[in-house]
Amino acid sequence: MIENAETLVKQISHGIYVIGVGKGERQNAFTAAWVMQVSFDPLLLAISINPGHYSYRLLQESGVCSVNVLGQQHYAIAEHFGRSAPDKMKGFEWQAASTGAPVLAESLAYFDCEVSHYADAGDHKIAVCKVVSAAAMLNQGRPMLYNQTGDMDGSSELYG
Ligand SMILES: Cc1cc2nc3c(=O)[nH]c(=O)nc-3n(C[C@H](O)[C@H](O)[C@H](O)COP(=O)(O)O)c2cc1C
Repeated sequence: MIENAETLVKQISHGIYVIGVGKGERQNAFTAAWVMQVSFDPLLLAISINPGHYSYRLLQESGVCSVNVLGQQHYAIAEHFGRSAPDKMKGFEWQAASTGAPVLAESLAYFDCEVSHYADAGDHKIAVCKVVSAAAMLNQGRPMLYNQTGDMDGSSELYG
C-alpha cells in the first residue's frame, strides 16, 4: 500500500478532456484526465479508459473518438461528463468530425481520432489513437488541470 497515493498522484500533471465516442446513432462522451501524446509521426494520443464504462463499449464498436480539451471555465462540463447518466450528450452542441466521432463545440481544441490498438493497464485499458484531424475551437481560456478538479472523480477511494 502506498500512503497518500491519491494526493501524490495529483503532482503528476494532466489536463481534463471530454472524450466523444461512437458515431451515428450510438454516441456518448466522458471526462478523462489520463490522456497523453505518445508519438509525433504519426501523431498518436493514448487514452486510459475503464473497461467497465459504457463509453468503452462504444469506443470498441466504432473504433473512433474525439479528444476535446476543456478550459478552466468548463468545470461544470467536466462534472457532467464525469458521471454516468442517460442522454448525457443532450443540451450540448456537437458536430461530427471526419471520422464521425462527436466533437464538443464548447472546448478549447479537439483531436479527431481512430483507435490504432489497445493495451492492458491494470484495471484500465489504454486506447492508442491516431489523430486524423484537429483544430482550435474557442479562442479563450487556459486548459483545465486535473489537480484543479479536487476529488471530482471520486478517485480517493480507489487506491489499493
Ligand atoms: C476529473 C475526472 C477525470 C476522469 N478521468 C478518467 C479517465 O482518465 N479514464 C476513465 O476511464 N474515466 C475517467 N473518469 C471517470 C469517467 O468520466 C466516468 O466514470 C464516466 O461516468 C464514464 O462515462 P460513461 O459511464 O457515460 O461511459 C474521470 C472523471 C472525472 C470527473
